[in-house]
Amino acid sequence: MCGIFAYMNYRVPKTRKEIFETLIRGLQRLEYRGYDSAGVAIDGNNHEVKERHIHLVKKRGKVKALDEELYKQDSMDLKVEFETHFGIAHTRWATHGVPNAVNSHPQRSDKDNEFVVIHNGIITNYKDLRKFLESKGYEFESETDTETIAKLIKYVFDNRETEDITFSTLVERVIQQLEGAFALVFKSIHYPGEAVATRRGSPLLIGVRSKYKLSTEQIPVLYPTCNIENVKNICKTRMKRLDSSTCLHAVGDKAVEFFFASDASAIIEHTNRVIFLEDDDIAAVADGKLSIHRVKRSATDDPSRAIQTLQMELQQIMKGNFSAFMQKEIFEQPESVFNTMRGRVNFETNTVLLGGLKDHLKEIRRCRRLIVIGCGTSYHAAVATRQVLEELTELPVMVELASDFLDRNTPVFRDDVCFFISQSGETADTLLALRYCKDRGALTVGITNTVGSSISRETDCGVHINAGPEIGVASTKAYTSQFISLVMFGLMMSEDRISLQNRRQEIIRGLRSLPELIKEVLSLDEKIHDLALELYTQRSLLVMGRGYNYATCLEGALKIKEITYMHSEGILAGELKHGPLALVDKQMPVIMVIMKDPCFAKCQNALQQVTARQGRPIILCSKDDTESSKFAYKTIELPHTVDCLQGILSVIPLQLLSFHLAVLRGYDVDFPRNLAKSVTVE
Ligand code: F6R
Repeated sequence: MCGIFAYMNYRVPKTRKEIFETLIRGLQRLEYRGYDSAGVAIDGNNHEVKERHIHLVKKRGKVKALDEELYKQDSMDLKVEFETHFGIAHTRWATHGVPNAVNSHPQRSDKDNEFVVIHNGIITNYKDLRKFLESKGYEFESETDTETIAKLIKYVFDNRETEDITFSTLVERVIQQLEGAFALVFKSIHYPGEAVATRRGSPLLIGVRSKYKLSTEQIPVLYPTCNIENVKNICKTRMKRLDSSTCLHAVGDKAVEFFFASDASAIIEHTNRVIFLEDDDIAAVADGKLSIHRVKRSATDDPSRAIQTLQMELQQIMKGNFSAFMQKEIFEQPESVFNTMRGRVNFETNTVLLGGLKDHLKEIRRCRRLIVIGCGTSYHAAVATRQVLEELTELPVMVELASDFLDRNTPVFRDDVCFFISQSGETADTLLALRYCKDRGALTVGITNTVGSSISRETDCGVHINAGPEIGVASTKAYTSQFISLVMFGLMMSEDRISLQNRRQEIIRGLRSLPELIKEVLSLDEKIHDLALELYTQRSLLVMGRGYNYATCLEGALKIKEITYMHSEGILAGELKHGPLALVDKQMPVIMVIMKDPCFAKCQNALQQVTARQGRPIILCSKDDTESSKFAYKTIELPHTVDCLQGILSVIPLQLLSFHLAVLRGYDVDFPRNLAKSVTVE
């Protein structure tokens, strides 16, 4: 949902070409967030005040198109060197206004580009602001909500009461007028070499690189009334050392680079030292010093922002030998599920310890019910594990789509425990559901894949699924790791239930063998490719199953529709005769998931109903299942595991199938049309 990247070099000389390269690479890392247009704003050749000028280059299409465009601009000398420079860049996923150069970011305040801004999120009151600004004579050129922000800062600047107003004060005044969600980075000809960034509801972090030791590991948060003594008092327990300017220090002959990005994947190749901004933080860099301030203080405010060390490796976000990130991520699942369990499941003692939950376990055990909330694939992980959670926790478990949960104003009580499942940790619907549950006093638990994400920070406790960065828009390895995390939670809850000990041991044994069994499933890739060759010209594909594998059908169908653009439906086999059977004939391809589990006999009934209508089922079944294969048009035979984990193995052939179908149909697997990886708007 739009990617923001900005780069400042302070006393680190860089040519314009090097600056371009850094900005473009940053955008490429974020392209999965949006890819219908892109743009950059950089300085003109000269820093002299009268010559100050900001160049804007914007282009419809992917970042590659912008990259080519940059080198066509003859007004820009690529060799010119900047000792200090601030460049901002954006890749867009359109929400307001069609994808074209005018609507893409940076948006500007006026024809002289006095202020330019990049934005991720949605401003919900932009129409009112636009009306107001138009009434004051500001002329708009785009259809975006973001342009209002660019015009608004110019309005505040034009109406400033003192000449020496700071850049961050202008931004502070702007965000007080904004409603909705935003991460913003501003650049201005009036403040050369300065940057201001802020966020509310959309993610934003800042990377810091310097060969000199940073003067502090904690950046104190400043408030309008703060003086240095106050700040020292606020921070004295947390700060190793506070420099006299109360800022991250880079003065004199010292040099520093700052990277602003929507997520860490764009920063990690430059530095692993980052600061996650909180909602309403205003981060400003001037004279190479970073300061953070907030307009209002609240009792719960953290008095400082730590410079954290990211554990991510660059190679984790590279494609390697795979043709697409999605393919790489499907094949990573033996390791990613292992990493999810690492240090948590003790296979010798048959125990599970989720460090992020242990302090809340008593409270969770006393709760009235569990509510598991997510969107899309993350919701499917909840559906997939509902039965085993009910069994192991002996509690009622509700699974909820975040948007619907909110639409219904679902009653939530203080003794509910609410889980929020989200790969990105930033999905707006899930985040709003989290705040809704928090307001009603429920205990909130995050299951996310992104350290420092809004959901991981705002929940009372949680589990990091440790699947590693997921770049492909279609979620794959996050699903299997979310699945395992929820199963681990059930196991932890049932540790002292004597009646469940055998079952627990069976599941823990199943977890142990999963990485090897996943490898076995992945070895079916060629067979699945052949199946894709038969199916790729079809318009529709039904995926049917029940019990533990119903979620597999929903998830498989979602993968197929989102990257192949074929119509696909996940059907509960028990519902077949209540409607969907009418779709079955000898033309309609039907994939059936039939595993040796308590629903096996019922699935056989569904199989008979399909074959009786001349349907030609493609069956995902267990290796030893001779019964189903007799009626199959084709079979994909899978290794057997314990019933409640089988969904991890049965979803992988469908991930692979959707991948091959999309490639055969000529689509860009990692960049499905109209979708974005992180959906930070409602
Ligand atoms: C589908 C997919 C989406 C996401 C959904 C929630 O492949 O990726 O359905 O699962 O947008 O995203 P997160 O998990 O980041 O909250």
